[in-house]
Amino acid sequence: MYSLLAHNTFGIDVNANSFLEYTSVEELKEFIANGIITYPFLHIGSGSNLLFTGNYEGLILHSQIHGINIIEETEHDILVRVGAGEIWDDFVMWCIEHGYYGAENLSLIPGEVGASAVQNIGAYGVEVKDLIDSVETVSIQGEKHIYPVAECGYTYRNSIFKLPENKSLFVTHVCFRLSKIESYTLDYGTIRQKLEQHSQPSLKVLRDIIVDIRKSKLPDPKVIGNAGSFFMNPIVTKAKLTTLLQTYPQMPYYDLGNGNVKIPAGWMIEQCGWKGRALGPAAVHDKQALVLVNRGGATGRDIVALSDAIRASVRTTFGIEIYPEVNII
Ligand code: EPU
Repeated sequence: MYSLLAHNTFGIDVNANSFLEYTSVEELKEFIANGIITYPFLHIGSGSNLLFTGNYEGLILHSQIHGINIIEETEHDILVRVGAGEIWDDFVMWCIEHGYYGAENLSLIPGEVGASAVQNIGAYGVEVKDLIDSVETVSIQGEKHIYPVAECGYTYRNSIFKLPENKSLFVTHVCFRLSKIESYTLDYGTIRQKLEQHSQPSLKVLRDIIVDIRKSKLPDPKVIGNAGSFFMNPIVTKAKLTTLLQTYPQMPYYDLGNGNVKIPAGWMIEQCGWKGRALGPAAVHDKQALVLVNRGGATGRDIVALSDAIRASVRTTFGIEIYPEVNII
């Protein structure tokens, strides 16, 4: 038995039958060839987007492939190949220290580089797909494959790597294209307003602004168990929005430009009165209603019970179905 307590940021105390890490593509292929990887297995990053609802009766796999290497450089940009086991925010820091533009709005997102490409992490107007050039994988048959970004099927918090038939593909490296030319994404929320307090933008200034916004809203998983946004923001048609605005004229929304809009689930959850409320040891964060927290000793089932209650409220009040962003195991 292997404890997964240190491998999920929700702080759920469950076990797996066994746990295995590999440090290179060669070692992973050796494990596969020698039959060391047995079914069922689950490949995890740092467990910042996972909720275990019970013990995992199988093998947990984790990449320890490291390395940040520039493989191509022009006047305008660089192509950098990063090991799936690198901590995402360490990579963001590397970009900022070396003067490469693009990743700064994704500062402080928990998790690892491999998972960032599976989940298409995003924040403050940037999604990681905007930076990805290609994703390198090894299959359970031991075959390497490189997916150019156009073949990764990226949509909001989703990719082909989340499909059930791809659960036995291991992401080993991700290649990112970053700009050497100064440019920023400033249109989300209060970024521009906060920038006015600085004489001019820089990568470091942008990072500091993002870190401040995140720290003011999102709980630190080292202090209180959580997995960031628990739900995805639902996408509805403009027709549905028009009807909703008649009853809720204050409802915020983001126009996707294709006849659909995204509605902040956090706003709806707050309207339903859930912000800061608890159901046993599982609670809704008091500064951002999209985040569920473990107040101590919660089981995965406690969190799911709270999630179900919230989903029912949002369905009854707004006629909208919201879905977890977190992977429930
Ligand atoms: N809002 C409320 N009450 C709340 C939360 C939000 O009224 O309790 C309103 C805000 O006032 C604002 C809108 O909802 O008008 C959007 O809020 P916010 O900027 O905090 O972003 P979000 O839509 O709730 C998403 C991502 C976050 C990301 C932020 C910033 C998802 C599921 N979540 O949250 O990502 O950091 O935008 O870009 O898309 C994550 O995925 O784990 C995550 C933290």
